[in-house]
Amino acid sequence: MNSETLYRQSSGLFPGGVNSPVRYYDPFPLFFRRGRGSKLEDYDGRKFIDYSLGFGAMILGHANPSVVKGLQERIADGYLFGTPTEDEITLGRIIRESSRSIRKMRFTNSGTEATMHAIRLARAYTRKKKVLKMEGCFHGAHDYALIKSGSGTLTFGVPSSPGIPEEVSKTVVVADYNDLDSVRNTLQSNRQETAAIIVEPVMGNVGVINPADGFLKGLRELATEYDALLILDEVITGYRFGFSPYQDIAGVEADLTTLGKVIGGGAPIGLFGGREDIMDMVSPSGPVYQSGTFSGNPFSMASGRMTMQILRGSDYGKIAGKVQKLVNALESIMQTLNINGAINSIGSMYQVFFGINHARNYREVMKADRSLFKQYFDRMLDAGIYLPPSTFETNFMSFAHSEEDIEFTILKMEESLKNARDNLRNTAK
Ligand SMILES: Cc1ncc(COP(=O)(O)O)c(C=O)c1O
Repeated sequence: MNSETLYRQSSGLFPGGVNSPVRYYDPFPLFFRRGRGSKLEDYDGRKFIDYSLGFGAMILGHANPSVVKGLQERIADGYLFGTPTEDEITLGRIIRESSRSIRKMRFTNSGTEATMHAIRLARAYTRKKKVLKMEGCFHGAHDYALIKSGSGTLTFGVPSSPGIPEEVSKTVVVADYNDLDSVRNTLQSNRQETAAIIVEPVMGNVGVINPADGFLKGLRELATEYDALLILDEVITGYRFGFSPYQDIAGVEADLTTLGKVIGGGAPIGLFGGREDIMDMVSPSGPVYQSGTFSGNPFSMASGRMTMQILRGSDYGKIAGKVQKLVNALESIMQTLNINGAINSIGSMYQVFFGINHARNYREVMKADRSLFKQYFDRMLDAGIYLPPSTFETNFMSFAHSEEDIEFTILKMEESLKNARDNLRNTAK
């Protein structure tokens, strides 16, 4: 049963045949049935080196044997009780011990839920209404986050979404990433009204955009100056560059932080947490409501605990080094082939933007050459390499990727890019 057949079936069931839009690409997405280490296997038995890694969650690679064994034991003993369990404490402690600013926390099932609750909490704490976000930052798919957002909303050309009441979108104000003047001006025009600044400390949903020197510290200062909370959305960046949220590496302290992806080791998870006085406002300690049948469920807690225990002793320099190797190779391939573009990378994440020289904010990356990316993506896929399917997503590296994987990828990068370029030139003639 191949992907095309499966897609025909799924498209009758799910909008666009998928259960999350970013999974779709033309003419139909491949369906995978197995993941082991750095590789995915499709329904035709073809293997692919995976650089999407569950959109960043699978930092140990697929089906890590220790995690699988632990999960099997967990499942055999039951995996949803709707009661507190010991694993919540173990995972919660690991996070508190490895984070400066997260003193108290609440687990959720997704990053979307985490940012939704963090925003509500910030509004309740400050008794103010507005939230300042950056253009192109993605904080999940709820109404308060889907304003000038990133990820699938860019790929599919929907800057925000119909269905969000004007009353809601008016409470979200937008500034430019990497531009403190724009943040200050926006705060100034919404003086006394801004409850929080929410930001991805490294943008990971318009491809990768690194914070400029001083940007995050500047945000911290502006938030304090304007009596707003700083919410760092670390759903991608938390435990991705080292065994802590990225803010601890960057030397910036959030009032509230959201986590997801890596901390669940591939099981559904999210978390919002931060200062104790703020978190104590959450129900049942305080009046701000949050709940969830599956929040802190034993399966996700076990997967997160085991993943984090392995990560705690892992050398993050190894995965960063592999990305550096790919980036260096891609740079020199592009030079040889006379293809211009910008490559942004940080630690174990990178993305290439063809056709532009700088990728420092949303507006710049929007000018990237998507046709060349699509041609490149298709050829890499044919060659057995599964890249994230849009230039507005992020390539991730896992601890399971081997040197041979990297060498093979570099080889295919060169062939695919040359072929993609020639093909576009021929069609243009
Ligand atoms: C920075 C950021 N925040 C929030 C989310 C939403 O998380 P989830 O997809 O788990 O709801 C994402 C998802 O990619 C994300 O990248």
